[in-house]
Amino acid sequence: MLRDPFGREVTYLRVSVTERCNFRCRYCMAEKPFSWVPKENLLSYEELFAFIKIGIDSGIRKIRITGGEPTTRENLDELISMIHTYAPEVDIGLTSNGYLLPAIAHKLKRAGLKRINISLDSLETETLHYIAQKDVLSQVLKGIEAAVSAGLSVKINSVILRGINEHEITTLFDYAKEIGAQIRYIEYMENSYASNTISGLRSDEILETLSHHTHFTSVSSIKSGPANLYETSTGYRFGTIEPHRHDFCATCDRLRLSAEGDLIGCLYFEGAKNIKEAIRCGDTREAAKILAEVVDNKPEKNLWGVDTNEVSSRAFYRTGG
Ligand code: GTP
Ligand code: 5AD
Ligand code: SF4
Repeated sequence: MLRDPFGREVTYLRVSVTERCNFRCRYCMAEKPFSWVPKENLLSYEELFAFIKIGIDSGIRKIRITGGEPTTRENLDELISMIHTYAPEVDIGLTSNGYLLPAIAHKLKRAGLKRINISLDSLETETLHYIAQKDVLSQVLKGIEAAVSAGLSVKINSVILRGINEHEITTLFDYAKEIGAQIRYIEYMENSYASNTISGLRSDEILETLSHHTHFTSVSSIKSGPANLYETSTGYRFGTIEPHRHDFCATCDRLRLSAEGDLIGCLYFEGAKNIKEAIRCGDTREAAKILAEVVDNKPEKNLWGVDTNEVSSRAFYRTGG
């Protein structure tokens, strides 16, 4: 079992398979990075799996594959299949922008994928084009349809930005409810790779707008990762993710692995230890030792606050949020 000095059990590993992305969302990767990590610096699927096995043997029960955009790396189903075959009880999820899903959603499901969280910030062609800096809406909607029809459990992630898509809070809600997917409204997390002209809505503003649209109550007693959950009178559940309040850090159960092998204790901070050399040498004891060290040094909480303007200097696209 992996337990940190604050008593939190670490059971969830987020694994980034690439920092590359086919979108340029203004809150994440507003401009193409000066250079991409060369492919030879990335861990192969076999190397990622070698570390994931150590994680599973140490108590990891949930794996989420992220990017950049994870589906831009070829044959992603092979990695999913390796994990699923080794430990069928482990919950495997994927976070994706949806664009490439029409061709591969069924294949990913067959490989053992259970759940998929898809970003959808707008249902307007022009608005989504503005946010993602690419004309993507119709393809993303097809990707969502493909995920639903493949039988994956789908969540929708929406980042609400002031003056850009804030008028779509209720239409996004209705869309997600219609397709039977849980929508989570994510507060924009300030970071130095985002466009400096954007600002996000806070969850109380989002909930205020929703309260004029539908009746709901809080069901936050149900633990659901970083999300606070709400339920309408017809039983539809949705969530908010509020990094500006620190309360979810107290129950944070996760570590992040970058595609280059950096094992990261917290989304906000740059602190990391690299497992690549240990894995490439086949030194599983050393890799397990690094895992234990990162758990031991997991920060207590991030520094985004209700009244502060802290900006993370980490590139979220290296770990997919
Ligand atoms: P499930 O609960 O398994 O469905 O997934 P998730 O919400 O953990 O994953 P997802 O990749 O969909 O992330 C949703 C949002 O939550 C993203 O904006 C992430 O950056 C954010 N998030 C996930 N983990 C953390 C965390 O540890 N700290 C903070 N501040 N935000 C997080
Ligand atoms: N703030 C909030 N959410 C973000 N995401 C990426 N960058 C940010 C940010 N700066 C979201 C994406 C995706 C999820 C993994 O994280 O929209 O849904
Ligand atoms: Fe790509 Fe996701 Fe970042 Fe958008 S939020 S640029 S889709 S990694």
